[in-house]
Amino acid sequence: MRFRFLPMTSEHAARILTWKYPPPYDLYDYDKAAEHILDSTGWGKTLFAALDETGALAGELTLGFLDRDDEWISLDDMQAGRLEGCILWIGFGLRPDLTGRGLGLDFVTACADFAAQFARRQYRYGGAEIGLGVYQFNQRAIKVYERAGFVKFTERIALVNGREYPAQRMKQRIHRTHLPN
Ligand SMILES: CC(C)(COP(=O)(O)OP(=O)(O)OC[C@H]1O[C@@H](n2cnc3c(N)ncnc32)[C@H](O)[C@@H]1OP(=O)(O)O)[C@@H](O)C(=O)NCCC(=O)NCCS
Repeated sequence: MRFRFLPMTSEHAARILTWKYPPPYDLYDYDKAAEHILDSTGWGKTLFAALDETGALAGELTLGFLDRDDEWISLDDMQAGRLEGCILWIGFGLRPDLTGRGLGLDFVTACADFAAQFARRQYRYGGAEIGLGVYQFNQRAIKVYERAGFVKFTERIALVNGREYPAQRMKQRIHRTHLPN
């Protein structure tokens, strides 16, 4: 399946907040991220709606940058191109009824390609890598990320609602084919 990415809108954001994943993936339900999704300052800058070929809402993509101290870069610094030593970071989700149907590789590849191009063009990102984080219970996701070319580079424990979840970070090099001429 082919995906395209458009700035988040209030209509799409409202729909995404209703998405429910079956356990154990309910950890990713977007109502827990309502503040992020509804923050319109990020729409079209860090937050995008993924649409399928028919124009239907099919997923969400967030991009940002982490500095050497593992701190998020502000939008002001991103827009000023102050990204020395930073790594492009992505997070995303397919619409719940589209998960588990073999669409993951196309979706993750499309997210990584779009984010790499957007980061180069919009924020003059000159870094060579793109990264993401994933809980280790989510072997379905990890399988897809490995297929897409992401490689684990560190492990950590994430604290979510007072519970500890083993997690890992993965990254891949941005290929020339990800970039516009
Ligand atoms: C993560 C995500 C992109 C994966 O895409 P997907 O379309 O659901 O995954 P696929 O259907 O392509 O399945 C990928 C593989 O995992 C396998 N798989 C499914 N459940 C599995 C499990 N519990 N353990 C191990 N492998 C599993 C599938 O069989 C498939 O492998 P195969 O092609 O060899 O048969 C998608 O599920 C998603 O966006 N989910 C939202 C919630 C989420 O997990 N977010 C992760 C954020 S880090």
